[in-house]
Amino acid sequence: MRKIFLILCLAVCAVVSGCGEEAAQKNSVQLLFPNPAFGGIWNYIGNLCARLMSDAGYEVEMRFCKDANDQVTQLQDAIEKNPAAIVIGAQDAGNLGETLSLAKERGIPVIAYDRMIMHTDAISYYASFENNSVGEFQARYVEDKLNLKSGAGPFTIEFIAGSPDDSNAPLFYGGAYNYLKPYIDKGQLVVASGQTDFSAVATERWSKENAQRRMTDILQKYYADGKSLNVVIASNDDLAEGLILAEQAVGYKGTPTILTGQDAGANGVANIKAGKQTMTIYKDPEILCGKIVRMVKAVTEGSQPAINDVTNIKNDVMTIPAYLCIPMIVDRENINIVKDFTK
Ligand code: BGC
Repeated sequence: MRKIFLILCLAVCAVVSGCGEEAAQKNSVQLLFPNPAFGGIWNYIGNLCARLMSDAGYEVEMRFCKDANDQVTQLQDAIEKNPAAIVIGAQDAGNLGETLSLAKERGIPVIAYDRMIMHTDAISYYASFENNSVGEFQARYVEDKLNLKSGAGPFTIEFIAGSPDDSNAPLFYGGAYNYLKPYIDKGQLVVASGQTDFSAVATERWSKENAQRRMTDILQKYYADGKSLNVVIASNDDLAEGLILAEQAVGYKGTPTILTGQDAGANGVANIKAGKQTMTIYKDPEILCGKIVRMVKAVTEGSQPAINDVTNIKNDVMTIPAYLCIPMIVDRENINIVKDFTK
């Protein structure tokens, strides 16, 4: 129904303004990004991508959405402008597919930024970091710090995963959990809450407050009276901050928790420097935005962009040619390599 409505809208637009018949605006790029208030470092990423794209000579329109429905509206508008390419950091992996079919009908190349988009065959390319490796690197760090390979333990552990509407969230979680599972099976790691299903550990909207609420509950139920929570695998820096706040709120008295994160955002970096968070996974946005600019250049010039994966990256409909960058572990020792996102 909505699709019919959209087709009608675009058809009316084409008749009224002739926009459907105009050649694609060869130099114009539409950038759509999630609401930065929902966490992560999208604010910096959006502005950086817009700047790099415009330095490369493109006319750029960049917008952050308010929520998932707002991004659909922005996408409809972006398609009507008939740009040479659309780049999307999806707010919700599941609700853009229907609208994207219109981009495909109009021959507008679509590049998915960082997050996969589901229910669509309209994506030309995907560029991201190795999402599975993000979680695996967190897990390897813990394995190393706790000497798990030598049989040390038992240690207590809890997980705080990302938002269920983000296709990356289960990949981060799976990367960490699957790597540590043999140690859980052997009893070297003990999940006192018993919460290990993605649905149990996921955090709506990647919200620090939601993470804080769940961890407060877990701390009160399973880690009261000085019992230590040795490790928390938090999928990003905001969720890590949720744990820090929960520990403060309940007056946690156990030994310091080894706490992971992701993004090396301003809060993560500050918490690592202050000794409240142990490590983060650095995904230098300049590297990813640079790849995106080169992808846009290739599709607008009708050439092949550099890709390094043609088989493994799939949504529920298609296999998408992708470029996957390698993330990096950062802790107190090498925190100075992180570029200051706020400048
Ligand atoms: C990104 C992370 C970010 C999270 C929350 C994910 O899709 O890959 O870098 O922390 O969204 O914004």
